[in-house]
Amino acid sequence: MDSKTLTRTISSSDRAQDPCVLVIFGASGDLARRMLLPALYDLAYDRRLPARFAVLGFARSQWDEDEFRRVVKTGIKEFARRSIDEAVWESFSGKLRYMSGNYDDPAAHTRLSSMLDSIDSELGTAGNRLYYLAVPPTTSPTIISKLRNDKISAPVDSDSWSRIVVEKPFGRDLESARELNRLIHSQFPEESVYRIDHYLGKETVQNILVFRFANGVFEPIWNRRYIDHVQITVAESLGVGDRGGYYDQSGALRDMVQNHIMQLLALIAMEPPIAFDGRAVRNEKVKVFNALRRMEPAEVATSTARGQYAAGWIGGEEVPGYTQDAAVDSSSTETYVAMRLFIDNWRWADVPFYVRTGKRLPKRTTQIAIQFRKVPHLLFKDIVDVSDMEPTVLTIRIQPNEGISMKFLTKVPGTPTRIRPAMMDFLYGAAFLNEAPSAYETLLLDALQGDATLFTRADEVEAAWEIMTGVLDGWQQMPSAQFPNYEAGSDGPEEADRLIESDGRQWRRF
Ligand code: BG6
Repeated sequence: MDSKTLTRTISSSDRAQDPCVLVIFGASGDLARRMLLPALYDLAYDRRLPARFAVLGFARSQWDEDEFRRVVKTGIKEFARRSIDEAVWESFSGKLRYMSGNYDDPAAHTRLSSMLDSIDSELGTAGNRLYYLAVPPTTSPTIISKLRNDKISAPVDSDSWSRIVVEKPFGRDLESARELNRLIHSQFPEESVYRIDHYLGKETVQNILVFRFANGVFEPIWNRRYIDHVQITVAESLGVGDRGGYYDQSGALRDMVQNHIMQLLALIAMEPPIAFDGRAVRNEKVKVFNALRRMEPAEVATSTARGQYAAGWIGGEEVPGYTQDAAVDSSSTETYVAMRLFIDNWRWADVPFYVRTGKRLPKRTTQIAIQFRKVPHLLFKDIVDVSDMEPTVLTIRIQPNEGISMKFLTKVPGTPTRIRPAMMDFLYGAAFLNEAPSAYETLLLDALQGDATLFTRADEVEAAWEIMTGVLDGWQQMPSAQFPNYEAGSDGPEEADRLIESDGRQWRRF
């Protein structure tokens, strides 16, 4: 365990043991089955859960507790990091409860309330509650209002606590995000609200802060004087799968850029926080979003590119186009977005941040490339072809093949003098023997421990929406996009190439 991890664990270790009931709304859904319950089992396996703990699943599916346990066990077998250990499973499954009901039915909420009381008496969970909204975004307001009306979200007594975890997407534009914040704040104080962005739970994303601020050598060159531009790529080879219903209402900008990409950008661009805690780290992220240059509608046309995939080939397999995947006749929903962003502050003035994300691209990769400026004086111009003199690039590979590499120029041994790029490469897999916890393990544990550092704050989420709502407005005023405009398995639409090439730069290869 490195020292940073140690500090975070120690800082919340006294709260780690708080007894509690985790109430999962949407417990029969995909997120709970594939992510949340396997992560909880992994935490149970590693003895990280409180001793007095229960999970109460609440969903519409008319299951009894045995059915719930059966589905959970199948999900664990398929998705948990740890294999099923019968002793761990027995103890874990003994903490699982389930009740079915409609989210807007007052009677169901009354039953929920009395079930929580009886779990408190049976398992000693002391009135502490963590409510997890693992439901479609349209359902969240109903549940939050019910929690308020039923007063079950209020702490049972002055020693107990009540927190809420809200999944993304958090609203669909600035106004709806504000409204959702207002509704949540009518019931939960901001310090009890945990807006989840699972990218922040990834080890490689958390490591951006350690890399930047635990090493002395990078910070002095982390600015406009030395950095030419930054590229953030979140590429997926998968299509929209069976989430077409959700995705067609959302699109890549709402699904990936407003949250995951904005978070990566903030961690790369932020000033050093004064402490490693939720307040200081999030203060600095908000400053980045506030400094992001707003785009006028006319600029949206020149600073962004959108795409939607047509049928094509990926890894030797023929795959359908978006409309077929999403089972719609036609659609103007974007499955690809690229944009050029500027952060108007002293550190980053005039340094473009190019970001792109898309479905059905040639491969799955999330990486951040920091391209440094060319040298100011070409010492070797008479002996080598200067077009070969590629600038230094630092690449942070978030996933897969997690690691960090630095590409720099080196002399090829022998005469005449030749110069060629070489790589220094750090690979997590080779450097550490222990397997990283999943993002959901980290985030669930943090929420149980009351550590909100890796969750987004109300002002942060609104500031990110402010920029993205400007883009959505700009798109609305533009002529409709001619979709589909990139083939599955290609590098994305030509518009995206034109966007970066008009600045004399190129996208990095996937
Ligand atoms: C989710 C998006 O938030 O992130 C999905 O809704 C996307 O569309 C997923 O596929 C990507 O997550 P990861 O961890 O696989 O990069």
